[in-house]
Amino acid sequence: MTGRTSIHGQWSSRMAFILAATGSAVGLGNIWKFPYITGDNGGGAFVLVYLLCVLLIGIPIMMAEVLIGRRGRQSPINTMRTLAHEESQHGIWQMIGWSGMIAGFLIISFYSVIAGWALAYVFRTAAGVFAGVTADGAASIFSGLVSDPERLLAWHTIFMVMTMVVVSRGVRSGLEKAVRILMPLLFLLLLLLVGYAMNSGKFAEGLAFLFTPDFSALSAGAVLTAMGHAFFTLSLGMGAIMAYGSYLPKSVSIAKTSVVIALMDTAVALLAGMAIFPLVFANGLEPGAGPGLIFQTLPLAFGHMAGGTLFGTLFFLLLTFAAWTSAISIIEPAVAWLVENRRVNRIKAATIIGVAAWLMGIVTIMSFNSWAFEFTFAGETKSSGLFDVLDILTANIMLPLGGLAMAMFAGWYMSERSTADELDLGEGLLYQGWRFLVRFVAPFAVMVVFLRLLDVI
Ligand code: TRP
Repeated sequence: MTGRTSIHGQWSSRMAFILAATGSAVGLGNIWKFPYITGDNGGGAFVLVYLLCVLLIGIPIMMAEVLIGRRGRQSPINTMRTLAHEESQHGIWQMIGWSGMIAGFLIISFYSVIAGWALAYVFRTAAGVFAGVTADGAASIFSGLVSDPERLLAWHTIFMVMTMVVVSRGVRSGLEKAVRILMPLLFLLLLLLVGYAMNSGKFAEGLAFLFTPDFSALSAGAVLTAMGHAFFTLSLGMGAIMAYGSYLPKSVSIAKTSVVIALMDTAVALLAGMAIFPLVFANGLEPGAGPGLIFQTLPLAFGHMAGGTLFGTLFFLLLTFAAWTSAISIIEPAVAWLVENRRVNRIKAATIIGVAAWLMGIVTIMSFNSWAFEFTFAGETKSSGLFDVLDILTANIMLPLGGLAMAMFAGWYMSERSTADELDLGEGLLYQGWRFLVRFVAPFAVMVVFLRLLDVI
């Protein structure tokens, strides 16, 4: 029963899938979120846990998610229903699709608001606002933006419309060509920033912060955040990669492509960290400054380097683009499901999801304004109210649980014959290694982190 095809079409090649999936993985998570949560959680030890999670949990679960998607060839909800039936398992497994769709809806609502910050910074940088800026100046330009709900709403609206336009046309047209050119360019600009940080920042101090683990600084909450981020940054646990997998030609190796995608995603995050922390230390800034970290540090680099206005504008443009290709993948499962089950066309489906998520985005906008409140989660103080709640609920709870369920399904509930056929790794060590990771290591690790957090162990 592997002859199914998707009604939504198929990627033209292995490269097209790698580009689309990398476009999904590389986004605000790498460049905005990774540096700020690393700063919040004390650096080295946190980074090490995140890297281990990518390797031992992220890559095997990505393979599971892609293989499930390719076998089912439908939106995650229908894919899970079909495969559960085929493997003679309970229909409850389609809950993976439902909870993924809800997680995606919540994620896109705040993701679009933050992408709006990046978009706003394209224009600020182009206008030369940052030329010669001081650390205080950059901080006050940032707080001027986030404390203005109407501006945030305008940028959020523009970004959401951009996302709806691409999704309504189908994710394949255009995405491939754009990613192929713009992603390497983003990589080059990050290298340029790292070069700048080597010369003008406290590079050694920045590297030491990122790569010298101090386990005494590592709380149970930090471990959960690191694990949650591994899911978030690889786009795992909610069906985005499953939906993309459902458009993957049968001949492509799932294992190889997953490793390539994870490596590129990790490289981008580490480069972003290496660009930002040397600047943080050189300018006497606070690593734990929170969600505004990159918006307060990178303008310092662009404000002082030769050609900074040009490079800065380009950088924020590419960051917006990276966020765009991620946002598209976040709503693809819901759009595909509406098209399959409600018999609407993609335009209508994208509009329904987009408008609902746009409205929900107001919650995030107000979290940085009059709805802000402080609370403590796992020993960490959070100051942006419902935005932090949405972030924790999705990245730290829903994605790991979704990923756990996918690992269990692929490892324990699908027959060995089905997964071996889909992965096509032979019966040897590679396949058995993957199976061991999804059956034992990934579920065990996710459960230990949760239980540790609940103080059970
Ligand atoms: N991975 C993207 C980033 O790092 C965000 C993203 C895209 C995502 N699709 C997802 C996160 C699905 C979780 C689930 O910016």
